[in-house]
Amino acid sequence: MGTNGHNGLGTNLTYTKFLFVLPYQEDAPTLLKIRTAGSNICRGFFNDYDAEGSREGQPQETIQFLQADGTLEGREGISAARFVAQVSANYRPRLDEVMCELKRRIAGSADLMVLEGAERATRYTSAEMHNYAYKSAQPRVSGRTARNAIIMPMSKAAAWWEKSALERHAYFYPHQDSSGCPAKGHAKAAEPGISTIFRKLYHNPDGYQRPNEFDFITYFESTDENLPVFERICASLRDQTQNPEWKYVTEGPEWRGRRVLRW
Ligand code: HEM
Repeated sequence: MGTNGHNGLGTNLTYTKFLFVLPYQEDAPTLLKIRTAGSNICRGFFNDYDAEGSREGQPQETIQFLQADGTLEGREGISAARFVAQVSANYRPRLDEVMCELKRRIAGSADLMVLEGAERATRYTSAEMHNYAYKSAQPRVSGRTARNAIIMPMSKAAAWWEKSALERHAYFYPHQDSSGCPAKGHAKAAEPGISTIFRKLYHNPDGYQRPNEFDFITYFESTDENLPVFERICASLRDQTQNPEWKYVTEGPEWRGRRVLRW
């Protein structure tokens, strides 16, 4: 563990950090300080706001600014963040630099919470699953069209990780549940989202089942009109008769907001 890219559990392809900014106050000087910090940390990064199509595999360092509207009162943890930046790079220490710079620039005005993830090759995806769930997947479109961003961290129970990889595999495909009833499984339960919701899955770069950390971060982008589809697929995934996998899932706090060109 600890080396860039390899931890014995899978290979990290690229790294990402979600930087959640929680201002102490929402007055003009505080907001100015945060906005200035945002324009400083984005130097050298490609801004994903206007990203179109797929840039898979390209060694680009990217940033996406997000912002929550309305009142955040009563929310806790990352759900209470007014501003979020997602930075991605192939070289992990690059993201630490950005995080430290942001932290330094907003010190005294806002708290910073950080979630870290890594992209990895798919693990349960056969050629057929690829055709089904990835080939026709919604490509990334500009934040002017797909305005909404949703970040959902989650973990899986020890009983999940105790299963063999082959056994876990079945949960993503139509299968029979423990009582022999047919279950759609993850991909089929989420089918309406395939062509409508842009999705990204990040793994904990340092492995799974780590105390006080999440196993996964899921990230979604959607147009306003497709948000109801997103709610529907979440409901289907949470429905354990359709998707028995969710028995093993503990969802973390979720963050919702808008993609913006800058804070
Ligand atoms: C939009 C439609 C969706 C489709 C087609 C879809 C499909 C898939 C597929 C095929 C995998 C397996 C990836 C692999 O081979 O490693 C997967 C993994 C995963 N998906 Fe989805 N998904 C969708 C939506 C969602 C949503 C809404 C959530 C969260 C609420 C979610 C959470 C996850 C997680 C956490 C994993 C990793 C599970 C693990 O490795 O144990 N997915 N998804």
